[in-house]
Amino acid sequence: HFHAIIPAGGSGTRLWPLSRKASPKFLHDVLGTGRSLIQSTWDRVAPLVGPGKVWVVTGESHLDQVAEQLPEMSVRKILAEPSPKDSAAAIGLATMLIAKEDPDAIVGSFSADHSITNVDEFRLVIDQACAAAETGDIVTVGIMPRNPATAYGYIETGELLGLDRAPTARRAMAFAEKPAASTAREYVTSGRYRWNAGMFIAKASALLEVLETEDPTLHAGLSQIAEAWGTDAQAEVLAEVWPGLEKRAIDYVVAEPAAAAGRVIVIPGDFGWDDVGDFDSVARLRQPVPGEPSGVISIGGNCELLEIDASGVVFSESEQPRTVAIVGLDDLVVVDTEDVLLITSRSHAQDVKKAVSAAGERG
Ligand code: GDD
Ligand code: MG
Repeated sequence: HFHAIIPAGGSGTRLWPLSRKASPKFLHDVLGTGRSLIQSTWDRVAPLVGPGKVWVVTGESHLDQVAEQLPEMSVRKILAEPSPKDSAAAIGLATMLIAKEDPDAIVGSFSADHSITNVDEFRLVIDQACAAAETGDIVTVGIMPRNPATAYGYIETGELLGLDRAPTARRAMAFAEKPAASTAREYVTSGRYRWNAGMFIAKASALLEVLETEDPTLHAGLSQIAEAWGTDAQAEVLAEVWPGLEKRAIDYVVAEPAAAAGRVIVIPGDFGWDDVGDFDSVARLRQPVPGEPSGVISIGGNCELLEIDASGVVFSESEQPRTVAIVGLDDLVVVDTEDVLLITSRSHAQDVKKAVSAAGERG
């Protein structure tokens, strides 16, 4: 009964210009593994649930690229949304369609933009999460925080629940999405909080119940769409209802209120988790390849790298052979695409989104 949902949307502005509106980060081999981020996500979750039970929700304009990158998938399970409405709508719709087919389903949603190095351990944690979801609660995975990042959700961990097949499961006392920097520092110092890994595992019925209580309007809109899905009325109802849906993240709509109501479980996860959010994390995650200059990582394209007293990461998408020379600079980030060249440093990785706003239309 276990189905996986991969919501793949969002713009990934901190990875601009590698990540573009027309071609967001999950379609790119950002880590130089030979697989795009969404392909790697598929590789992790398909063996868990079976290839026939993976659902992807993505923008209409990315449908073809997703289908091409995941040829194993039935196109029927790639759900196309007319416009981005954030993760609550995406995950909510997929959950409704799954529940329609399989009312007893357990669903797990898995972000399309993560890196996980220890996949065996990841699978053991998800097995536990699945078992814990039988309680009817919403199950999350908590990562030991490495710094007071404000880009994540924080889960306050409570007592061990003593569940049979989920021995490390604990009650989540609270869930706080993207806290202020000072709050994040307090959380990390307290030692009681974990980062939310961006995975939600629950009975479909339980997730939908929370959605209905917390955002009845969103639930009603999605229900209308789910009902028409697969019928002649699908396109019409989608075009009519989707644009009016509110843009909200699942963390605010489901996780925060469910935790406040004592209905969230957290399984601690330690499997080399990372959010591939910006060029600093990419530079950290990317393994140096034998034969490459040691200080500078180069990814993709036709680029020959000359590095002299330099370190950092270079992305190239140029079709033409191009020599990139870097002399005497450290922690550099260079992204060379057809129409945009970005030069920054790893320490300014968070600020790249400012360049996207400045670039306006070209973003
Ligand atoms: N289909 C679709 N449509 N998917 C979307 C949309 C959308 O409009 N917006 C976001 N997503 C997808 C993203 O592609 C990603 O797979 C997932 O939903 C999470 O969205 P992000 O936008 O990446 O969320 P975040 O990184 O700010 O925060 C989430 O992840 C963190 C860990 O990486 C939260 O769950 C945090 O609590 C968590 O710590
Ligand atoms: Mg993210």
